Amino acid sequence: MQVIATYSTKGGSGKTSTAVNLAWEASKSGPVLLWDLDAQGASTYLTGVKPKLKGGVSKLVTGGKSISDVVRSADFSRPEGQHRIDVLPADDSYRELELLLDAAKGSKRRVEKVLKDASGTYETVILDCPPGASLVAENAVRAADVIVSPLPPSPLSLRTLGQVRELVADSAKPAPILAFLSLVDRRKLSHRRAAEELPAEHPEILDVVIPASVVVEHMGDERAPVAAFAARHPVAQAYASLWTAITEQLR
Ligand SMILES: Nc1ncnc2c1ncn2[C@@H]1O[C@H](COP(=O)(O)OP(=O)(O)OP(=O)(O)O)[C@@H](O)[C@H]1O
Ligand SMILES: [Mg+2]
Repeated sequence: MQVIATYSTKGGSGKTSTAVNLAWEASKSGPVLLWDLDAQGASTYLTGVKPKLKGGVSKLVTGGKSISDVVRSADFSRPEGQHRIDVLPADDSYRELELLLDAAKGSKRRVEKVLKDASGTYETVILDCPPGASLVAENAVRAADVIVSPLPPSPLSLRTLGQVRELVADSAKPAPILAFLSLVDRRKLSHRRAAEELPAEHPEILDVVIPASVVVEHMGDERAPVAAFAARHPVAQAYASLWTAITEQLR
């Protein structure tokens, strides 16, 4: 089982869009669990799943329920042969998660512990993290084999990458970071420059770019990954390339 966290300190950088599209790509080779760790519930929404976690997140994180008791099936169709995508939905109980973890024994290892159960069931786990540096993020980073971090091309993107590095370096088990430029608008000179220069200058930044496109916003109408409703769109192909780069890292 490989565990991937989509994480950045920056809000609105494309973590959730990435998590949902990578779940689609990963399901081509094996069953996937997508865990929505953000009280906003955006990946729960985008996969068409009911925002209700039976027993609340406390039962899951501090004992009483296991993943198989509370997962729901992603509600979009997949081609024959593609494996299932299960979602651990976020609901209102996630607002308490930070406090809950803080009070728990082994407060940085609860997510890792919950996932132990799942290793025979899923080939890939994707953890969709909330923005910012939090105990939730520390838990996800601790559980992850790789941290996937979208960076919108702005003068602040390297500062954000530095913050991600710091949080990961503080982990007892620092996983490699794979960053990539997201929301890239090739009409803007600064974006073209960033897409050319940053991957060349920073070893963690992949040479894969996710373009800015309304097709990503349409995920909210379709409640599905881009490839499920626009398979030939360049954005679907870009997420597929991102997945290939991640699997190369995990090999
Ligand atoms: N490549 C893209 N092109 C156009 N819009 C995008 C792209 N990626 C993300 N968006 C839009 O930007 C917004 C934020 O994206 P997303 O929810 O994936 O970010 P996030 O990092 O998970 O945000 P948060 O920090 O709130 O969890 C959404 O409305 C999404 O539709
Ligand atoms: Mg998000």
